[in-house]
Amino acid sequence: MDFPVFHFDWLNDRFLIAVIAILHVLINHGLAVGFVPFVTWMEQKGVSGGTSDQITNPEWDNLAYKLMWVAFIITTTVGAMTGVGIWFSAALVSPTSIASLIRVFYWAWFVEWLVFVTEVVLILIYFLTWKNSNKTLSAKLRHIRLGWFLSIFSWITMAIIVAILGFMMDPGNWNASHNLLNGFLNPIYLPQLFFRTPTAMVVAGIFAFFLILLFTDRYSELRVKAVRVVSIWIIGWVPFSLVGAIVYYRAMPSAMIANLSTAVGSMDFAQYYDLLKYFIVGGISLAVVISVFGLLKPRQVRLYMVVIPMLMAFGFLGIFERVREFIRKPYVIGGYLYSNLLRVEDYPLYKRDGVLKHATYTSVTEINDDNMIEAGKNVFMLTCSRCHTTQGVNSIVYVFERMYGFEKPLNEASMKAYIPFMHEGRTYMPPFPGTERELDALVAYIKNIQQTSDPLYGAQDEGVVINKLNNARAAVKIMEKQQQEEEALKATAEKKDQLTLEKK
Ligand code: HEC
Repeated sequence: MDFPVFHFDWLNDRFLIAVIAILHVLINHGLAVGFVPFVTWMEQKGVSGGTSDQITNPEWDNLAYKLMWVAFIITTTVGAMTGVGIWFSAALVSPTSIASLIRVFYWAWFVEWLVFVTEVVLILIYFLTWKNSNKTLSAKLRHIRLGWFLSIFSWITMAIIVAILGFMMDPGNWNASHNLLNGFLNPIYLPQLFFRTPTAMVVAGIFAFFLILLFTDRYSELRVKAVRVVSIWIIGWVPFSLVGAIVYYRAMPSAMIANLSTAVGSMDFAQYYDLLKYFIVGGISLAVVISVFGLLKPRQVRLYMVVIPMLMAFGFLGIFERVREFIRKPYVIGGYLYSNLLRVEDYPLYKRDGVLKHATYTSVTEINDDNMIEAGKNVFMLTCSRCHTTQGVNSIVYVFERMYGFEKPLNEASMKAYIPFMHEGRTYMPPFPGTERELDALVAYIKNIQQTSDPLYGAQDEGVVINKLNNARAAVKIMEKQQQEEEALKATAEKKDQLTLEKK
């Protein structure tokens, strides 16, 4: 509540983060964490597979270089931009969560920054010195070692961030004693890391498979060899990915598993829950099928055959991230901070005084019959707008109409009866934090937008109004009042003293 509320009324705020973050994960896993070790492995095979008078097999080495070229271009542009984009969008939409996470993970993020900078430097050196390193064997071997170092650093950047992602789902002991180590070693951390690592290898392998077919001639020996190598890579990692998925699923708290079915799409799309299963089973088994085919009949593999398995693999990873983000609801940080950016421990205070009194930015603090709708708008902004729009995706009018019937006026009494219990039926929503009066205002506001279709503007369009109980002028007034009271007290005390003196 300490930040102005940025709000996107058509697309939904969550989408903004999701689109950027998912793209980033696809690039990070598919083109860095899993891809660099594969390319390095290929480069190494070129040296061991060359004839005795060659440093490396030039054709083979050139193919590995071309794969790295694609990864280099994409990771250093879209990859880097979306990485920064996650910070940018999350800080806009959910500043309180980022602030809390930074307070807990300050040193982890500091180390992350060092590791990331190292990773960027290594990737620049690795790619840009590739051709030069082909001149002597010792330079080539050094270059390959650099590739392994780069692989390790790419993995460490992921390994640190996964701790934070696991923490948000289930902080474990941290809720009892707030320190970094407790947060870092949360119960979901290692299972998730164990799942992500081989999965990144599989996804990267399938993408490399696609590139290999793109960059080699259909009848060349080079293609046959490369298809075999990438097939072995994929088949080798798939079992680990499957075991990782099971370990991860078992580590998830049961409340999150209950959220799974809505997570994949939205409630309207609960049947897409099955889609996740198809994507996991389909994506992984298609990858295995194409790899076994590649191993046995490398000459028969065609580019188009790899397209579907590749899209399935990336699709699976994308859906996985979407699900992970969703199922931790109603929390941003499990048990500590709700997704509406209000802390669990502050709820009793809000229940007693109302959210408006304690908000930093609100145009209404005292609700009366004339400012009902304006008050409701503020309540909506503070308690619902992180997940609902008024006119766009997951619009609040739409979700109520879906329950009570379309194209008829919403019934205030039913809405009022529903909202205080909404978190019980729909466990992904945080409980409503406000008072009875604030509930009235919220209902009046929602009914009003059903009639008027008024959009809701965020702080970026409308500016902010500082809570008048909370701003500097109010503080000065309160201090002045206190001073006056003190002086008055003093004056009466002095008068009393004087009177007693006079009496004497
Ligand atoms: C953490 C995010 C989040 C917050 C905060 C939130 N909601 Fe929701 N709400 C959802 C999601 C997700 C759905 C399911 C939408 C769908 O059907 O796809 C939903 C559905 C609903 C529904 C329809 C439920 C049903 O059974 O069909 C209502 C009504 C609703 N929300 C009201 C509210 C109100 C009022 C607030 C604010 C006091 C609020 N929500 C705050 C995420 C949230």
